[in-house]
Amino acid sequence: MDRPRPNRRAAATPWPIEDARLQAYLGRAFVEVHGWVGRGVIWSLEQIARFQASYGIVGESCEIGVHHGRFFLALENVTPEGMACHGVDVFDDQELNVDGSGQGSEAKFNENVAGYAIGPDRVRTVVMDSMSAEARGFFRGIEGRVALFSVDGGHTRSHAMTDLASAEVALAPGGVVWLDDFFNPNWPGATEGVVDYLRGPHRLRPVLAIESKLLLAGVSHADRIIAHLREAGGSTGRRVKTVSFCGYSFLSINRPIDRAT
Ligand SMILES: C[S@@+](CC[C@H](N)C(=O)[O-])C[C@H]1O[C@@H](n2cnc3c(N)ncnc32)[C@H](O)[C@@H]1O
Repeated sequence: MDRPRPNRRAAATPWPIEDARLQAYLGRAFVEVHGWVGRGVIWSLEQIARFQASYGIVGESCEIGVHHGRFFLALENVTPEGMACHGVDVFDDQELNVDGSGQGSEAKFNENVAGYAIGPDRVRTVVMDSMSAEARGFFRGIEGRVALFSVDGGHTRSHAMTDLASAEVALAPGGVVWLDDFFNPNWPGATEGVVDYLRGPHRLRPVLAIESKLLLAGVSHADRIIAHLREAGGSTGRRVKTVSFCGYSFLSINRPIDRAT
């Protein structure tokens, strides 16, 4: 989706991404697959994968709203061997994409999975409207199994609330959710949805705002995840700022240190 352009200083400060799988991803799928995800988000994925590995957290991955697979493939690339990766999208039934966020294509997604996934056979392509009754059953079916979950489907308040609730059901202990377009003025529904989600009964809370994404984790693991990100953030050349939102303190890692306010 259209995004504010990063300032020059931010673009000139590379994110320290060391994971060989993600370096390979950045050299190929990241540049060759159409979609919307930044390098800072990939840095956050590396850090969450490291955190989970250090605590023995092993789970599946899932994305609602895969489009052509740009972020999905990054998730797949760091998903532990033998774990399933679920890609959910309305795909070619774009009448169900009610706010016109992206434009899924099952053929392009499957082609990119074949070309860039580490384990194409473990990818489950799920043609589904995340707002449907069928979706409730699907997410109950993977209850407690998903360690890496991306919410990037419809961007209305209602989609964000429903998809966060689905992520909450599917998430394994120690799992993390990336919600797209937090504070993007072109897609205000995503932020409105997370505010209303956090004002109602909820089990996930924010841990990090980075580029377009808000990361959320279960309340039991959030403090440890924040501590990990705070330490790792010190090597990014960016300010690690503590922010408050909806009653929670968490991190924002965005602005290069010499430009940070
Ligand atoms: C912004 S794009 C996703 C971008 C993608 N995550 C990437 O890495 O580039 C949004 C996607 O959500 C899909 N979508 C929209 N509404 C949906 C819904 N209700 N259920 C499932 N997918 C939906 C669209 O078809 C589109 O592919």
